[in-house]
Amino acid sequence: MSKTLVVCDNEFLSTLYVMNLEVYLATTVELVSTVEAGIALHKAKKNFDQIISLDSVSKKDALKDINEYRGSYGVKTPLIIVGADQDQDIDAKTFTVSSRYNIQALLKKSASVLGVTAKQMAEMQMGAYYPISMAPLEGLSKAPCNIYQMVDNQHKLLTRAEEPLEENVKMLKAQKVEQIYVRSSDRLVIVNNVSLKLVEKITTALKNSTNLPAEKKVEMLNDGFEFAAANLFSSDEIKQEMAEIATASAKVMSDVVKDNKQLQSLLSTMLNNKSGYIFTHSMIASYVANHIIKNVTWGGDGQSDKINFVLFFHDIYLSPIYLKYPTLKYEKVLINSPLLNEKEKEIVMNHARMAAEMVVTYKRCPMGADILIKHHHGMKKGSGFAFKYPEDLSPISKVLLIAEAFVEQFMMVHDAKQKVEMKVIIPKLIEEFPSPSYMKIVQTLVNLPI
Ligand SMILES: [Fe+2]
Ligand SMILES: [Fe+2]
Repeated sequence: MSKTLVVCDNEFLSTLYVMNLEVYLATTVELVSTVEAGIALHKAKKNFDQIISLDSVSKKDALKDINEYRGSYGVKTPLIIVGADQDQDIDAKTFTVSSRYNIQALLKKSASVLGVTAKQMAEMQMGAYYPISMAPLEGLSKAPCNIYQMVDNQHKLLTRAEEPLEENVKMLKAQKVEQIYVRSSDRLVIVNNVSLKLVEKITTALKNSTNLPAEKKVEMLNDGFEFAAANLFSSDEIKQEMAEIATASAKVMSDVVKDNKQLQSLLSTMLNNKSGYIFTHSMIASYVANHIIKNVTWGGDGQSDKINFVLFFHDIYLSPIYLKYPTLKYEKVLINSPLLNEKEKEIVMNHARMAAEMVVTYKRCPMGADILIKHHHGMKKGSGFAFKYPEDLSPISKVLLIAEAFVEQFMMVHDAKQKVEMKVIIPKLIEEFPSPSYMKIVQTLVNLPI
């Protein structure tokens, strides 16, 4: 069996990495939460077939530190860095994968490093039973399938499916047992269950974040968003649970908006966190939309959660595209970018409709959120981008359109390293939204604290 060293200080990602690597690649994983600990463990054991590390662990540049170690000790162990700016093979034994939550991309790269073929991955027959680390199972109250332990080289039933698991896991941990076993045929059951548990953990963390600093909240929101984006094509059960993350996120987004008294400070919080373009512009749009709502006669506090829920999902289908092409930004530019293939352009055209169709399946979708998502580029059917905005959209739709248009202008000025001035941005918005019903909304931006 191969051995993998994982360096990761994010509890959600640790669970995902350990479990997926073990289940799909049948590699034994050792997990540490600092680069120093990783290097120390590698020095002590030397027998790892690969190192997988987040790009930044406790704010340290893992690639730089691990490379220095590999260089000065002549270490040949391949390294995969997750969460880098792009997917890249830096050299024959150093690789980067961009999305931290895109487990498929990590597994693919890791399989090639370990020499596991796709066919082997699919039918991974390491025997009738599969070893799994204890850590991902902690927190599962019920056993999702039969769980076995190794006793005298025999697999002995520890907990039957659907029976309470926690006590048994605690007992084994006390005995310093590191692995349990499931039947090979049950490995997807366990992956699915641990992923569902993770949704619950992310949601709980978001709900309990009230007193944390804005920076920490943004980090959590980013985790929630990236997890949701990476699970667009997961099982229906997990997709349903994404609504829970979004609902919890909507509240935290309101908090962050309130914590940041100025737009510039919110932007720097986002940039410090290395949040991607979609999440950054959604967060800033939330700030702007909430300001507008406070300044129009028909606005009310109740609308802010709905708006944030909408912003959480509105561009989620673009997320894989932005990950693949990290240099791209403004949505209207995407459609003419020579980088994108036909299939990707198709997604850009229809991302509003696709997201609307997804949220409408949620049992507790805020009223009308799907319509707001569908109309977020001013097109009634959720396909394409409007040049002339229709009059008969709902007032909140108009607010969202203007908030997003403002954010684009704001970020363009910021990127050009120019001073953000309302007297420059507002005329541009009036040009884009000349009709009186939109203009009234644009005017509320005059006193937006930037
Ligand atoms: Fe957007
Ligand atoms: Fe969009």
